[in-house]
Amino acid sequence: MSKILVTGGLGFIGSHTVVELQNEGYEVVIIDNLSNSTLDVLDKITSITGKKPLYENLDLKNQESVQQFFKKHHTIAGVIHFAASKAVGESVEKPLKYYHNNISTLIYVLEEMRANNIKNFIFSSSCTVYGQADSMPITEEAPFKTAESPYGKTKQMGEDIISDTCKVSDLNAIALRYFNPIGAHETAKIGELPIGVPQNLIPFVTQTAAGIRAELSVFGGNYPTPDGTAVRDYIHVVDLAKAHTVAMKRLLNKDNKTSFEVFNIGTGKGSSVLDVIKAFEKATQTKLNYKIVDRREGDITEAYADTSLAQNELKWKANISLEDALASAWQWQKTL
Ligand code: WQD
Repeated sequence: MSKILVTGGLGFIGSHTVVELQNEGYEVVIIDNLSNSTLDVLDKITSITGKKPLYENLDLKNQESVQQFFKKHHTIAGVIHFAASKAVGESVEKPLKYYHNNISTLIYVLEEMRANNIKNFIFSSSCTVYGQADSMPITEEAPFKTAESPYGKTKQMGEDIISDTCKVSDLNAIALRYFNPIGAHETAKIGELPIGVPQNLIPFVTQTAAGIRAELSVFGGNYPTPDGTAVRDYIHVVDLAKAHTVAMKRLLNKDNKTSFEVFNIGTGKGSSVLDVIKAFEKATQTKLNYKIVDRREGDITEAYADTSLAQNELKWKANISLEDALASAWQWQKTL
């Protein structure tokens, strides 16, 4: 079966995608510089699937290393590119780090793919490219708004770099715009490893429930939403991972209709922060301490996906419920 490169393959979404690729019979090679992951994830993946992925510890910012890698692994059939920095707040403080780490690396990978005649590319994009969309649910036709952060801009620029390259080369690419990835693998062997104080909601919820954090702050209770708290589309990371294997198969089978395609990957359902808290308490039978505080700078009111394009074209849809996703996050937290 084809050999697939997964950059950032030891990270949260990357590791779950490696598991699903191996379940589909692909040979996987991972590049990860361990800047936001740990090496033991490789053994965890192996213990889940019984197959050890190939692994190279290299930094994609080092163009020389990228060239060497592709010379060594020139039989790669496709690339799934997760490797990037993704902390929205940090990107505001350190824009150059984000432009360097998220854009230079993308360019080096695309250049070496072309040099080695590798034509299939899946890009980890984000609903953040839409900013606050004008109407819900959000379709792929919704325009890019000015991104709230350099992180969001790197996703918008990334898509433009790829689509421009597809126009003038043999590259075929799919950008998957993730909504809010949550949860963990059912074995609780891999999951979200937030380093430091969690920025995202679900790790903060599980750490509060575990007594690591005293109280969850709900950022804003006066949004124009049913209960006043912000609405997002929380998708289980395994559903998200499966969207990548389906998208890669589409490219390998040359079923793509244009050389650059975009799909929203979400559940299609909006949940408020209070909905999440209630669902978590119900799913885990644990009480959550929280208090409603001021809005967080840069947050949008609501975002949830219109997933009909992915359903019609990729024959993919999310199956795992919010409660089951939260229960899996709790199982994972208890192993930490
Ligand atoms: C979700 C909701 C917060 C923490 C970001 C990126 C996006 C993607 C996912 C990378 C919001 C509220 C949060 C807390 C809270 N990342 N919240 N208390 O901001 O929707 O999206 O992460 O691809 O690109 O933009 O996710 O989990 O930070 O917040 O009330 O302690 O939970 O205000 O409404 P967000 P999030």
